[in-house]
Amino acid sequence: MKVLGIETSCDETGVAIFDSDTNAIVSEQLFSQASKHAEYGGVVPEIASRDHLKKLIPLINLTMKDSGYTLKDIDGIAYTAGPGLRGPLLIGSSTAKAIALSLNKPSIGVHHMEAHLLINLLENPAPSFPFLTLLISGGHCLLINAKSLGNYEIIGQTLDDAVGEAFDKVAKILELGYPGGPKIETLAKEGNPAAFNFPRPMTDKNNHNFSFSGLKTAVFYESKKTKEISSSQKADIAASFQAAVADTLLFKTRSALQETGLKELVIGGGVASNKYIREILVAGLSDKNIFFPPIARCTDNGAMIAYAGSYYLNKADKNLSLNIKPRWPLSEL
Ligand code: KG4
Ligand code: ZN
Repeated sequence: MKVLGIETSCDETGVAIFDSDTNAIVSEQLFSQASKHAEYGGVVPEIASRDHLKKLIPLINLTMKDSGYTLKDIDGIAYTAGPGLRGPLLIGSSTAKAIALSLNKPSIGVHHMEAHLLINLLENPAPSFPFLTLLISGGHCLLINAKSLGNYEIIGQTLDDAVGEAFDKVAKILELGYPGGPKIETLAKEGNPAAFNFPRPMTDKNNHNFSFSGLKTAVFYESKKTKEISSSQKADIAASFQAAVADTLLFKTRSALQETGLKELVIGGGVASNKYIREILVAGLSDKNIFFPPIARCTDNGAMIAYAGSYYLNKADKNLSLNIKPRWPLSEL
């Protein structure tokens, strides 16, 4: 079965084809709009919608050409139905449904965060249910007991900013540009992670929730202490902020693993591409099996949508069309 996947939830237009017979992504294309939003310091939904509209069909054509297949060979079309930005979601879903209708094939709306989680199952070795999942992206910070396909218990989440959002906001404070995550990771390599003792939020609380807005405020006040902040101070702040995030994620993930007794940990979402955070988690949880997607499949991409869609197209026993859900808790699947 060949599934065409379309991702348009935010500022990346992603298209891919997954072939379940060979269990492989046959072809994939990605266009990042990041540079178009950079001058505004964050994603502008209207610009994102217009750009998806411009790029999506050419990217689908490119993906098809690269795969050697034609649309007639496709067995179903998966698209991100939510959560995400309303306009961008509508572009992806209406394009997917129009193609599906014209081919008389099913289309399936995929949950974006479930796709971030499931893409780990395409790796070799792959985790097996049940496992703990840490999803860290621009819009979410979730600890999930993934019991089986579609059965996800959220055991911890952020009370305010998502992790990626905190990276983006701190990058703005340090005037590094958008998107902040990769910029902070690069700058942090030149800094001392112990230079500033930023808070490890909520690590004194007996639950699995997160809060990153206080940490961001602590960075803000530190950066305002001197009138002219030097580049080495900036690097120290970036490194110390990143260390505070990594320590917090490690602390909370470790306690969630202890409480649930789960042995395998799956990590996903844009922030999972951060090598420093990966190293801290791997070193701190050396007795657990940890699974990360390849770096390019941590941030938004079409492959994860095509792959997640393949699970649900297999179970095509009901109306597969779905309206978009800009807000869609994973627990409501
Ligand atoms: O999963 P994703 O591509 O989109 C959402 O579903 O939100 O995640 C994007 C987020 C952004 O906030 C971005 O700054 C962050 O992931 N990010 C990173 C890195 N690469 C992307 N954060 C830290 N380090 C990185 N290397
Ligand atoms: Zn994402």
